[in-house]
Amino acid sequence: MNPFDYNHPARQDIFAGRSSELEWVKQSFEKALYGQPSHLFLYGPRRMGKTSFLWHIKHLFQDFDGNPFLILIVSVGDCRNLSDLTKKIIETLYLEVQSQKNVVGKVVEFLRNNFRGIKIGEVGIEWNREESMFDEPRQFTRVLVQLWKKLAEAFKGLAIIVDETDPIIKDKRFAGEFIFSLKTFIEEIAEKGICELKFIISALPELYEVIPEYNQHLLRIFDIKAIEQFDEDAARILLRNGLKLASKKKFGLWSDEKRFTEDFFSACFRISDGIPYHLQLIYHRAFELDDDGKLTEEDFDRAVFGHQKKEGVLDILHHVSFGPLYQRAKSASSRSERLLTVLSEVGGELTLDDLQRHFPGVSRETLSSNMASLRSNDFLTPSKGQGIYTVSSKLCRCWIDRRVRKIPDKDICVGT
Ligand SMILES: Nc1ncnc2c1ncn2[C@@H]1O[C@H](COP(=O)(O)OP(=O)(O)OP(=O)(O)O)[C@@H](O)[C@H]1O
Ligand SMILES: [Mg+2]
Repeated sequence: MNPFDYNHPARQDIFAGRSSELEWVKQSFEKALYGQPSHLFLYGPRRMGKTSFLWHIKHLFQDFDGNPFLILIVSVGDCRNLSDLTKKIIETLYLEVQSQKNVVGKVVEFLRNNFRGIKIGEVGIEWNREESMFDEPRQFTRVLVQLWKKLAEAFKGLAIIVDETDPIIKDKRFAGEFIFSLKTFIEEIAEKGICELKFIISALPELYEVIPEYNQHLLRIFDIKAIEQFDEDAARILLRNGLKLASKKKFGLWSDEKRFTEDFFSACFRISDGIPYHLQLIYHRAFELDDDGKLTEEDFDRAVFGHQKKEGVLDILHHVSFGPLYQRAKSASSRSERLLTVLSEVGGELTLDDLQRHFPGVSRETLSSNMASLRSNDFLTPSKGQGIYTVSSKLCRCWIDRRVRKIPDKDICVGT
């Protein structure tokens, strides 16, 4: 199995870097223990590692110096309004405490007493469809505070982590409800002196921009921090962690860290721009094997450098492959290169208007024909909704390939 998985949040055993972000979170948990509530807002561009970091927080802090914290990771995902989101928080909470006999009974009792027609089963909660009970900020607060009362004996604190906030960014009404509810919630728990509850929000920078008049609320409520590119240390640790996981039998050569020269490593790092997704993708591709499943020295070189080696690893890397291509990619002002970079970082869903924002000097006709050619290459696939497209991971692979090997412009798309 290839240890570098660029399609999912990082597993705990490969997780690398993020020491300053972790220190920031740790201080916030410490404050909660000493009676000072604090709420965190983490933002970063697409694929910078937000979700991976949130799962790492859960892993590290659910037992914080012997103090049990209940940490819920709630993906906004397909929620369309505050009511959906509140239900999702409750569902996540229920599933999380399900195995804790002393707590789950109280939670179930509370839900049954408060919500008509609710069905609570092993796999989750089924709501009474007619009931839209959480579309008002005070209800959001009331339910969460009352639920917390049922849990307070078992846990020192509760952290609700809200992730994948795109639907909020895309819908002004939802954004308004959400931010206003957080404000109400946080003011109310401060009034009641409940300090053990905290919110951690992860978002794309755009959440700031949705409703400018709410920015001041966000600034007042949250301690805000950006999650940034990996530095070289983190990138090296990621490689090392992956190598440790690789089965020695199958990946004999790869599992020997000494084979990796500094130049190999720094070329990978440069190409990646320090974006963890790109690093995982580069390492993953380098790891890919030929069909026979056995890695010979030749396979290794072919996999890493795209051809057989005659000279030393370092020479091939530096003089033949990564170095010059990287330089070319970097100096290229070609629009296709920029387009690839933008799209691979934007990820997710995209419209012509989004593209226009990134390329203000380019005509709509040109961008529209760029989109058409990306569609014909399956780099973009139509999403639900008119004019909305999903950026495929094929395109991100292409971005890496273009930096490592030579891919003609026509295979990507160029605007002139
Ligand atoms: N700290 C890390 N250590 C190792 N790999 C990481 C780390 N952070 C992120 N990655 C890798 O980078 C990729 C993107 O990470 P993740 O999904 O967490 O980013 P994200 O910011 O949540 O993305 P999106 O904006 O699409 O939600 C994944 O393949 C993940 O494995
Ligand atoms: Mg994410």
